[in-house]
Amino acid sequence: MAIVSGVTLLPPAGARPAGEYLAAAADGTSEAADLVAVAVEANGHRPVDPGLDEYLPASAAQVIASCGLTGKAGDAAETIARVGERAVRVVFLGVGDRSSAALRRAGAALGRRVADGKSAVTDAVADAPDDAVQAFAEGILLGSYRFSLKSDAVGKSPTRGAVRLLITRPRDRGAALEKAIAISAAVALARDLTNTPSARKSPQWLADEAVRVAGEHGLGSRIWTEDELAAGGFGGILAVGSGSARPPRLIELTYAPDGAARHVVLVGKGITFDSGGLSLKPNDNMQMMKTDMAGGAVVIAVASALARLGVPARVTGLVAAAENMPSGSAYRPGDVITQYGGRSVEVLNTDAEGRLVLADALAYADAALGPDQLVDIATLTGAARVALGTSHAALYSTSDTLAQDLLAAGQASGDRLWRMPLEDSYVPALESAVADLAHVARDGAPAGSIVAALFLREFIGQRAWAHLDIAGAGRAGADDGELTKGSTGFGTRLLLHWLSATPVAGGG
Ligand code: BES
Ligand code: MN
Ligand code: ZN
Repeated sequence: MAIVSGVTLLPPAGARPAGEYLAAAADGTSEAADLVAVAVEANGHRPVDPGLDEYLPASAAQVIASCGLTGKAGDAAETIARVGERAVRVVFLGVGDRSSAALRRAGAALGRRVADGKSAVTDAVADAPDDAVQAFAEGILLGSYRFSLKSDAVGKSPTRGAVRLLITRPRDRGAALEKAIAISAAVALARDLTNTPSARKSPQWLADEAVRVAGEHGLGSRIWTEDELAAGGFGGILAVGSGSARPPRLIELTYAPDGAARHVVLVGKGITFDSGGLSLKPNDNMQMMKTDMAGGAVVIAVASALARLGVPARVTGLVAAAENMPSGSAYRPGDVITQYGGRSVEVLNTDAEGRLVLADALAYADAALGPDQLVDIATLTGAARVALGTSHAALYSTSDTLAQDLLAAGQASGDRLWRMPLEDSYVPALESAVADLAHVARDGAPAGSIVAALFLREFIGQRAWAHLDIAGAGRAGADDGELTKGSTGFGTRLLLHWLSATPVAGGG
């Protein structure tokens, strides 16, 4: 793959102030890193470190003051220390209020500063609790993520930077750091899959990636071919995929640990390119549509980390993969399709393809898999992006317990959600004169994200269900904290956090 990703986290070493570290490097008793990062809190507080100043061109206080560093999370001021014959970069790193969100942002700022092949050490989280250390480490790993198809990067194994945390009880921190590494690797996988251009990324390519991941991480896998989808009655996936030369697939991944108390089915939208189909998008709206399988990528990425994180739940991942293209064999506005389970749907706009592929997968999960909880994740509507931008994804749920648990996991993990209403008075918008259901409201009807959620709700039976519309949060226009330009992998951290928690008896 074309990943050129960031830094490696080295095993932590014992806590020592930066000044002491530089002294040991100067007299040759320990290796000298290329960069040493020192935390500055929002109140300007910095751990007392009398040994540091003697290595700096001006005192630490002067450097911080003259650079106007306030300690805001992610801000940084940099100077050079002379250590023996070497020049070592000293970065004063704002860690804000040391909340998890602030530490992720600070970690990301550090991760971005560690160039390929260079090494860094930091005492920024020297005696922080485990969850703070995990947040900081995730920031380092996620912020330094890179995806590149530049010709000088392709085909070469990436040179990474390396960061070592100087920390109290370094031998006890293994679990927190292992969590950060496993979660960040999963997010990087979601980003890689999503950032891959669609010329390469056919439904079968996505299926091949899922099978590879399943093999590497001890998951079961089944790839449904077009014939199998036809025999099973998956009319939505087949219709959406019918315009492409590259046929649709349903990807099914299974993780079944001993003694699991609940079964969760995750469903991801896997549109490997969304041209809009015959209801063709204008170029501006089409440019980003290689990322329209972001939800499916998250499902694959989450599955990849379940065993490594010891998630106690049984999890089935479904990715409804299809390429939405216009052609002589494409589905048309005005067609009536039959979804999995037999319901007929009048297609009014071939660009509302996501809900058609999801409806099949949700109905299949309800009828055949018997989940305690059913969660789908999809870049479903431009309306969700207009409403919430990139900071939060829209959450819809038929279960208050499930919604509360997901909202809490969102706050803790950094993938934040905002709950939206399943407004019953909008249901008549989906009435059709010729079919059981229309899949979009008539032109110009408001509340596009809610109406899409109401359509999906028709296919979940009586399940405790949540729908995450990540059309906004799935992509970042620029590097920002732990997010990197392009795919964000939004939902990976959220779902792994939620799945790792103790199950709610009865499924909520
Ligand atoms: N994949 C798009 C939604 C989208 C838009 C994702 C912008 C990310 C950024 C989806 O398939 C779509 O085209 N939705 C339409 C639905 C409409 C035709 C009812 C939309 O939101 O405009
Ligand atoms: Mn579309
Ligand atoms: Zn789409």
